[in-house]
Amino acid sequence: MSLDLKIEAAITLLRKIESEFSPAVFANSLGAEDMVITDLIAQAGVKIDIFSLDTGRLPAETYTLMQQTGERYPAQPIKVFFPDTAATEAFVNRSGINAFYQSVDLRKECCRIRKIEPLKRALSGKKAWITGLRREQSPTRTDLTDHEYDKDNGLDKFNPLIEWTEKEVWAYIRERGIPYNALHDRNYPSIGCAPCTRSITVGEDVRAGRWWWENPDTKECGLHIKKA
Ligand code: ADX
Ligand code: SF4
Repeated sequence: MSLDLKIEAAITLLRKIESEFSPAVFANSLGAEDMVITDLIAQAGVKIDIFSLDTGRLPAETYTLMQQTGERYPAQPIKVFFPDTAATEAFVNRSGINAFYQSVDLRKECCRIRKIEPLKRALSGKKAWITGLRREQSPTRTDLTDHEYDKDNGLDKFNPLIEWTEKEVWAYIRERGIPYNALHDRNYPSIGCAPCTRSITVGEDVRAGRWWWENPDTKECGLHIKKA
C-alpha cells in the first residue's frame, strides 16, 4: 500500500473512532509516530482529546517538543498526567532515585507508578484509546492489528500506524515540516524516560536503546502488555 493510501486509511479510521467510539483519547508520547498522529488528528479535524504521561523523568528535548506541539496545534491541547505524588515519594525514598537499574522488578514498579497508574486515570471513562504502535518496532508487537479490544484496560484500542514503516513516518514528518524530538537526530529512534533511553549504533534494532540492560522479549513498560 502506498503512503498516500495509508494516510487516507488512517484518517478514515480516526473519523470512525470519532463517530463510533466517542469519547476517545490519543496517548501522545511525542515520539515520531505520535507527531504523525497529532498532525493527522488536526488534518481530519476530529474531536479526539490528546494526553501525555509525564513521568517526571522525560528528557529535556521531550519537554521542548511538548511546548512546540502545543504552539503548533493550539486547537488540540495536550493534557498532561503526572504520577501520584505519595506513591512516587514512597518508592523513591524506599528504593532510590535510580532504582530501575537494580532489577527488572524495581524497573517495573517505577513504570507502574510513573506510567501505568496515570494511564488508568487518563483512560477512565473513555470508550477507546489510540496509540502510535507500529508492528515492526519490536518482537512484542508483531501480532498487533489496527483495532483490538484492550481487555486489561477495558476499552477499545486503535493503532492507526500499525503497518507504517519507519521510512514512511519520516517521509510524512519531513514533507510537512512537523516538529520532532531533537534526540531523533542523535540516533535515538525510540524515546522514553531519560535514564532508560540511550542512543543506538548502526545495525541495532530501533528499540535497542530502551531499557538496554534488559532482555528484548521482556522490555515493555507495561502500557501495551497483554496479561495472559
Ligand atoms: S513504551 O511502552 O515502550 O513506552 P513506546 O515509547 O514504544 O511505548 O510508545 C508506544 C505508544 O505508547 C506511543 O505511540 C504512545 O501512544 C504510547 N505512549 C508511550 N509513552 C507514552 C507517554 N509518556 N505518554 C502518552 N503515551 C505514551
Ligand atoms: Fe521509571 Fe525508567 Fe519506567 Fe521511566 S522508563 S517510568 S524512569 S523505569
